[in-house]
Amino acid sequence: MSLILLGVNIDHIATLRQVRGTSYPNLIEAAAMAVSAGADSITLHLREDRRHIQDSDVSALKSMLTVPMNLELAITDEMLDIAGNIRPQFCCFVPERREELTTEGGLDVVANSDRVRQACNSMQRAAIRVSLFIDADSDQIQAAAECGAQVIEIHTGPYADAIDITTRENELHKITDATTLAVGLGLQVNAGHGLNYDNIHSIAAIKEIHELNIGHAIVARAVFTGLGKAVSDMKMLIKQART
Ligand code: PXP
Repeated sequence: MSLILLGVNIDHIATLRQVRGTSYPNLIEAAAMAVSAGADSITLHLREDRRHIQDSDVSALKSMLTVPMNLELAITDEMLDIAGNIRPQFCCFVPERREELTTEGGLDVVANSDRVRQACNSMQRAAIRVSLFIDADSDQIQAAAECGAQVIEIHTGPYADAIDITTRENELHKITDATTLAVGLGLQVNAGHGLNYDNIHSIAAIKEIHELNIGHAIVARAVFTGLGKAVSDMKMLIKQART
């Protein structure tokens, strides 16, 4: 059986903190818990608008993580400087639009090949392995290899969002074909976005995929796997205050 790794994206634990401006939930504790439960890497997206992950999170996590950090970023001078200073084991270049709810499409490597190539070179000079978040598209994969990326992350959003079985099957075929092409070009293939407990099986079954990056569904599930204990802990505290 070939090994498949799980990268846990902790952005939305930070979302919960930022929405109230509190000091909790603590990201360091969350990352440590994810790692002790089997996360093979921790992913975080430092967005230009800092809507969830903050600069201080990136440096704090980098100094405590016992597994690789995968830092997602847009290709801007500011983000390249930050990555060069932090030196995560991986960085994943993603497209970014401020108004989007989440990353909406893959990076257009074909249209931005010079910029992507320069960014790949600058990260690799800092010994950071570069991943490009792209659609399951042969031109984008070819361009990613030509730009010198070592890894691609295939955008599984269209598969996850498919409105019927036929569309989902088509999207799955695109991902399978894209994986075969990329592996043939010597790229490591990761995948992610929109993966959840119901749709994970077919993607995880693709043998050449090295790692899956999953965030929102895991954080959402944690509400239900942890809510009962959170309520009973609070109930105990308020009762204790009256004894
Ligand atoms: N991979 C990339 C490149 C992403 O931008 C995201 C979302 O931040 C994910 C994976 C994780 O997606 P989700 O939160 O839907 O699991």
